[in-house]
Amino acid sequence: MEYSAEKLNEEKVFKDPVHRYIHVQDRVIWDLVGTKEFQRLRRVKQLGTTYLTFHGAEHSRFNHSLGVYEIVRRIVDNVFDGRPEWNQEERLLSLCAALLHDLGHGPFSHSFEKVFDLDHENFTRAIILGDTEVNQVLSRISADFPKKVAEVIAKTYGNKLVVSLISSQIDADRMDYLQRDAYFTGVSYGHFDMERILRVMRPKEDQVVFKHSGMHAVEDYIMSRYQMYWQIYFHPVTRSAEVILTKILHRAKHLHEQGYSFKHMPLHFYSLFKGSVTLEDYLKLDEGIFLYYFQMWEEEEDPILKDLCSRFINRNLFKYVEFDPAKEYKKLARLSVLFEKAGIDPEYYLVVDSSSDLPYDFYRPGEEEERLPIHLLRKNGELRELSRESEIVDAISGKRRTDHKLYYPADLILKDRKEHEEIIKLLEL
Ligand code: NI
Repeated sequence: MEYSAEKLNEEKVFKDPVHRYIHVQDRVIWDLVGTKEFQRLRRVKQLGTTYLTFHGAEHSRFNHSLGVYEIVRRIVDNVFDGRPEWNQEERLLSLCAALLHDLGHGPFSHSFEKVFDLDHENFTRAIILGDTEVNQVLSRISADFPKKVAEVIAKTYGNKLVVSLISSQIDADRMDYLQRDAYFTGVSYGHFDMERILRVMRPKEDQVVFKHSGMHAVEDYIMSRYQMYWQIYFHPVTRSAEVILTKILHRAKHLHEQGYSFKHMPLHFYSLFKGSVTLEDYLKLDEGIFLYYFQMWEEEEDPILKDLCSRFINRNLFKYVEFDPAKEYKKLARLSVLFEKAGIDPEYYLVVDSSSDLPYDFYRPGEEEERLPIHLLRKNGELRELSRESEIVDAISGKRRTDHKLYYPADLILKDRKEHEEIIKLLEL
């Protein structure tokens, strides 16, 4: 039997707190889950530093990837199968792309990518196309199959219907992480009626559309996402931990470049510091490795590296104030001078962080990130863009919200109120 059609003798199931069970019948999927590159995702948390704010948020990218696979499996097997606009030959490709879509994520990816100027999407592609176990499994289907999977994930694949299952404004990726992140953080936002949404999904030419009768379920999903961004993903305390993490990596890189001799040599970081990380080096990184170094570096001579690591490990985070970069740049400059004078390096201890999200948008051609709108399908076959039908969605669509905060170590400043009087006044401590 052809490998692509091979089924397991007995269906395998993973118990999952969000989808109850994740079902695997295809030999290919089972083999991919067993590769070492996919297993690495167990050691990368889905929400990075969020566990320092919401202690339940310890779930991994492994959990999420299986969840996205399961949602796509339900769509193609239970909803799309047999419909004339769906080509069942795309089934396995859709499942593989869903399972592997986050394969290239590094430890604490957000900060990590920023400091070392990396992009996890490039690593996802490199793992799928490179000399890896994942590539060996995919290549058994056909020589060009790995390339197709990489194209679906990169959104360049010819059949956009397949792409939209995994990357669109309402896709399996988002539907999984909203529910999963809500479950593990314990918040009451993030829940919506996914079963209903799946039932009203229809393949239509090059996109997934939704029967008009399912509009309220879709509205609810959009609102969930909006609330999750502001309550969870952009939580100011989580961002504080991220600021510190970013500064640790900056400091370590800087020290390395200055020829500082580490007590605990950052072997795993050398190629990152040089900007020449290979796939092999990259795959050795996970959050366990990072936390190991942070603990070791608490014993370094360098006071900044040592202090920042101890803050991260022991959760002694920076405090924050609202900050308006357009109006308060003079205040920031003054604070910077005062920090310098007080011997608190502003480069590491006075940090502006900005978060920004667009909850939903209809199509605006030519914008840097073109967003495909969500379409509702009327009984007469006509398509209507969601924000034209839903007043709730219309109210938030196209509205970008940005939030700026200024982070600083309140403990260092409050240690000596007299000496830091002006800083205290400026920060309204
Ligand atoms: Ni994802």
